[in-house]
Amino acid sequence: MSATPERGGDTGFATHSIALLLNGHPRQLQVLPWTTALDLLREQLDLTGTKKGCDHGQCGACTVLVDGRRVNACLTLAVMLDGKELTTIEGLADGDELHPMQAAFIKHDAFQCGYCTPGQICSAVGLAKEGRATDSAEIRELMSGNLCRCGAYGNILDAIEEALPACHKAGHP
Ligand code: FES
Ligand code: FES
Repeated sequence: MSATPERGGDTGFATHSIALLLNGHPRQLQVLPWTTALDLLREQLDLTGTKKGCDHGQCGACTVLVDGRRVNACLTLAVMLDGKELTTIEGLADGDELHPMQAAFIKHDAFQCGYCTPGQICSAVGLAKEGRATDSAEIRELMSGNLCRCGAYGNILDAIEEALPACHKAGHP
């Protein structure tokens, strides 16, 4: 983060310069000190795949990956992303090739309205990277921060169970 804040456009408030790797691309951004990562993505960068549900760390709809670890973007200040690698749902696929977790969600019809789905998938990718879940009970427990108002939990569990070995094998994300 720059030591000397700059004046932010026509807002009159001081902004901070941050540099991050966003979905594999280096970005230099000016952010207000109170802007969350979620609002940075949705309002400033037009990356609306990451969803705002509760905006209070309760639902998991805003889950993204920071240096490979799943975090709630609504509880993360944008200035905290300086020097980090940020991956959102838009950055998981490799060109036209879906991430194994995305493909498994489609195969298992693991959604209804789809609003929670980007957060569910990012969280599941983070779960795979943690390597802690060894059975369905552990997957349920470790995914309990991601709520689904449509109750698609059974299919979500099936998708994650199927994709975890593929994620481990391929070294995703
Ligand atoms: Fe972030 Fe609900 S919007 S946890
Ligand atoms: Fe609708 Fe999960 S699919 S909230």
